Amino acid sequence: MLTVSNLSVQFGKRILFDEVNATFTQGNCYGIIGANGAGKSTFLKILAGDFDPTSGRVILEPGKRMSVLNQNHNMFDEHTVLETVLIGNKVLFAIKKEMDELYLDYTDENADRIGELQLQFDEMDGWNADSAAATLLSNLGISDDFHYTLMADMEPKYKVRVLLAQALFGNPDVLIMDEPTNDLDFETISWLENFLAHYENTVLVVSHDRHFLDSVCTHISDIDFGKINHYSGNYTFWYESSQLAAKQRAQQNKKAEEKKAELEEFIRRFSANVAKSKQATSRKKMIEKLNVNDIKPSSRRYPAIIFDQEREAGDQILNIEGLAATLDGEVLFKDVDFNMAKGDKVVVFSRDSRATSAFYEILNEKLIPTAGKFEWGITTAQSYLPAENHDFFTEDINLVDWLRQWVKTEEERDEVFVRGFLGKMLFSGEEALKKSSVLSGGEKVRCMLSRMMMIRANVLMLDEPTNHLDLESITAFNNSLKNFKGSILLTTHDHEFAQTVGNRILEITPKGVIDRYMTFDDYLDDPKIKELRKQMYS
Ligand SMILES: Nc1ncnc2c1ncn2[C@@H]1O[C@H](COP(=O)(O)OP(=O)(O)OP(=O)(O)O)[C@@H](O)[C@H]1O
Ligand SMILES: [Mg+2]
Repeated sequence: MLTVSNLSVQFGKRILFDEVNATFTQGNCYGIIGANGAGKSTFLKILAGDFDPTSGRVILEPGKRMSVLNQNHNMFDEHTVLETVLIGNKVLFAIKKEMDELYLDYTDENADRIGELQLQFDEMDGWNADSAAATLLSNLGISDDFHYTLMADMEPKYKVRVLLAQALFGNPDVLIMDEPTNDLDFETISWLENFLAHYENTVLVVSHDRHFLDSVCTHISDIDFGKINHYSGNYTFWYESSQLAAKQRAQQNKKAEEKKAELEEFIRRFSANVAKSKQATSRKKMIEKLNVNDIKPSSRRYPAIIFDQEREAGDQILNIEGLAATLDGEVLFKDVDFNMAKGDKVVVFSRDSRATSAFYEILNEKLIPTAGKFEWGITTAQSYLPAENHDFFTEDINLVDWLRQWVKTEEERDEVFVRGFLGKMLFSGEEALKKSSVLSGGEKVRCMLSRMMMIRANVLMLDEPTNHLDLESITAFNNSLKNFKGSILLTTHDHEFAQTVGNRILEITPKGVIDRYMTFDDYLDDPKIKELRKQMYS
């Protein structure tokens, strides 16, 4: 139903897509995967008609409608929530708008046009559009009270839900989403997983989230070597089979029949497991026949993330007294008393991402607290990875010059020195000379990590560091933080990250803090803490 034929894309010398042919069939959910910078977002933009390929074309079956989840959260700030959803059905929205305008200026001439529009509006079930949109919103946890609120006044996590409703509005035949889980809380991610697992139409979704991919995908479309290959099955299946293929390729002496038998046995076991699982019922055709010869090892590489400290800190790291933050009169957190010891790896936690982000912004002097104070130990040097990095990438300069902005001495300006940090993050040769403005989401985060490594601080502050990163980078990042000898303040929705890095949990709430030396899992499981947490947010 959706076909791309002979698609090629080239940026300078770099070939992103080379004569790609692929068909996306009705009813399947395709998880589009690939390393940061492989071309996933570019591919979706081409499908949506927002970017012209060097050559080739996209064919959507006539009469079918495609819809895209908007990534720009602030694009609809002047619209109400309900209107934002209605805009999701562009044609219907245009008809309604034209009708409304004509009514204001009613003449006999207009009457004919209004009649025409009304007919179309009827056919599209326009009269029920408002109530359908309202139901969709309510299902997403946005109650009636907010339907006439301006988008600009919505909490960020609810904005994302409204945009989801917009994309889903009118039941599109093909739904396209680029990293939809990035800014969602656990609860909304589960909702989306459940929704997509039962969605009957075609879905193409880019994600780096294993759990999400496993819950929703019937197929994996891997972008690698400039091509797109479909594999039936979920992410784990693709991952395990490509690992097996790579292992077999290394064992060259093994006979072809033995390899084939081993793969077939693997597929048989895996299919049996999937059939038993809950997901098998929701998306029926989970595992179809699979051509054993088609499985290819991947070309993905792990970046080298190593945080060195220029000098070790003394015993005083950070002292906070009575810190509080409010936003438009709403208390985000208050009464934060906290003394950070050397080597602490603190998971800063809250139900409200605005609270944790405000906490880091205050510690980095980008925001003024409503009350309280903090003091860094004199031997500390900090570096900060903010959740939002847009402001770092407004200038049109190459990556070497970009990173050079943060060197500390004249010697460090040397290109070889700067390139060393870019190279660790897989920008080498020509890649280091591309413009910072063209970077993909994950590539931007990789640059920010090069910057942090170069600063060589002894205290790291990380606000949602795994957003946008591919799985290879997340693994390397996770290991580097485990091994880091300095101190860390970290906020993440990646459970594994929080559990394996943190040795102390600091929960900041509108009624004060909970501060415990324990692992993240123990913290979440402790019945006394559960009770306490309930009170703190009530
Ligand atoms: N105008 C351009 N000139 C040169 N290179 C470009 C241009 N636009 C994009 N690129 C490069 O094309 C590659 C693909 O970008 P794209 O955003 O599609 O990646 P992606 O697979 O979505 O990555 P991520 O997982 O990080 O989101 C990146 O390496 C990017 O830097
Ligand atoms: Mg992308």
